[in-house]
Amino acid sequence: MTPSQNRLVTLEEYIIQKQNKFPGATGELSQLLRDIGLAAKIISREVNKAGITNLLGVDGSTNVHGESVKKLDLFADSQLISALDRSMITCMVISEENDGVVRLNSEGGKYIVYLDPLDGSSNIDVNVSIGSIFSVYMRQPRFEKELVEADALQPGVRQVAAGYVLYGSSTILAYTTGLGVSAFTLDPSIGEFILSFDNYKIPDHGSIYSINEGSYNSWQEGLKKYIKYCQQEDPETSRPYTARYIGSMVADLHRTLVKGGIFIYPASSKYPEGKLRLMYECNPLSFIIEQAGGLATDGKKRILEIEPTAIHQTSPIYIGSPKNVEMAQSFISKN
Ligand code: AHG
Ligand code: MN
Ligand code: MN
Repeated sequence: MTPSQNRLVTLEEYIIQKQNKFPGATGELSQLLRDIGLAAKIISREVNKAGITNLLGVDGSTNVHGESVKKLDLFADSQLISALDRSMITCMVISEENDGVVRLNSEGGKYIVYLDPLDGSSNIDVNVSIGSIFSVYMRQPRFEKELVEADALQPGVRQVAAGYVLYGSSTILAYTTGLGVSAFTLDPSIGEFILSFDNYKIPDHGSIYSINEGSYNSWQEGLKKYIKYCQQEDPETSRPYTARYIGSMVADLHRTLVKGGIFIYPASSKYPEGKLRLMYECNPLSFIIEQAGGLATDGKKRILEIEPTAIHQTSPIYIGSPKNVEMAQSFISKN
């Protein structure tokens, strides 16, 4: 991890610098990342003044997962989609807030983008950190020209970029294009994301576990035993671990990236296939964590290798420092 040097590097400059290292690059992915950066600044501004501008609270509708939609969910959704539409390089967006695919003006655009426009919406009204998540794929060449939903059903290993924005005590944007993870902090006084960390690495092992323990009774035995293992005393392995659970995946994942440890949203009797969405929560954050040297599995196999069958499908997830994830998996595989 290299903290930025004396001279400040903005997100825009950084993206261009990286692009210049690939002589054949068309600049389109760079443009897409800049578009997301712009939408993130607008969302960050609204999040910070949501109480004043009447953006707190529910919209009154429910989304594809039957969850109550908040006004900020819809605001973030429309900002991100219109930013992507503007530069005519994205043909299709799939978002938590839209049941079907959203076709953009550029039918011939080569990118498909998945979005969780506002992650952790239940935390909006209580001033706790929330986020946005994005995941980018190339449209695959096919014989039929017409764009169909199946074009978007690609495994996470095919992501060409992914990232998140965390609206916390400061606003942070982290992304990867498969060459490590870079993180930027928004300086609101100049309205720019400034490079904070290049090539971010997650600790090999951490002493924090993160799971909604209120669901304990609905878990499988192996997971119950793993959580008991986390709570047992053993100074050599830094146990007992500390429990931390924010309830916004982006915030929980950002902490896991910085401090190490494990975040789990398991399969349970209530959610047999997990609750978190494969395409716009699990895959992008798994890409980031793997690029930082961590691991992400569904308890058995690598998240990024799951072949998706539906745009809004869910998956269990065990994600974080490699040693923690391997240990959790060894408990899960026993029953
Ligand atoms: P979203 O607000 O985008 O629907 O996501 C909420 C998710 C995720 O951010 C978080 O990790 C999880 O829901 C929390 O779920 P529980 O309340 O069931 O623990
Ligand atoms: Mn979410
Ligand atoms: Mn959401």
